[in-house]
Amino acid sequence: MKSLCLLLATAVAASSADFKKDIEPILEKNCYECHSEKTGKRKGGFVFDDLETFKLDIADNDVAQIRPGNPDGSHFLEVIVNASHEKHMPPDDQLSNGDIRKLTEWIKEGALLPGVKPAVASTTPSAPKKSLPPIMSWTNLEGKTIRAGFVRLEGANVVLRMPANGQEVPYPIAKLNAESQKQAQEAGAP
Ligand code: HEC
Repeated sequence: MKSLCLLLATAVAASSADFKKDIEPILEKNCYECHSEKTGKRKGGFVFDDLETFKLDIADNDVAQIRPGNPDGSHFLEVIVNASHEKHMPPDDQLSNGDIRKLTEWIKEGALLPGVKPAVASTTPSAPKKSLPPIMSWTNLEGKTIRAGFVRLEGANVVLRMPANGQEVPYPIAKLNAESQKQAQEAGAP
């Protein structure tokens, strides 16, 4: 019995993922090209090499890209795993199974970032939440893009939920570009 426990403990330790050692190299090789503070490419508004920014995408709520302890609920992982997703990442490539396993492991273990306060996964099973549409990109007439979840249409405004703090913010639909206006109307259609 004792040796079985030891075996299990070793197996778990061996499969655990460390951000610096296991995750950062995957992101650097496959994602920084388009998502990096250093290269100045912030496609979709995402950067993965600035951890203070990256951490805003990690939270236990419906709009976060990464939900600590919950790989299945993490949109970030879904676009990587699901090759037929309309926003599959990286766009013209598929990560190896080994890389996907490491990312899954890292998220399962809480998606910790070094030097950044750990995101705490809720331990109490939460009541089923009303599922919100995934986070989307919104671009205004000045060409500035933000990411937020669609909440509802309200008169001339679209109410967006900010991923960083869950705050609901009304935004004038007329100030969005044509594509985002269409996205708002479609999301708000009954
Ligand atoms: C060749 C450029 C490119 C590479 C490489 C790339 N991305 Fe992206 N990524 C984009 C673009 C462009 C968007 C915005 C897509 C949109 O909103 O239509 C995006 C959006 C995303 C999103 C948001 C998807 C959504 O549904 O809004 C995530 C998450 C993401 N990327 C993760 C990654 C990860 C992780 C990697 C590396 C494994 C990666 N990307 C590599 C260009 C890239």
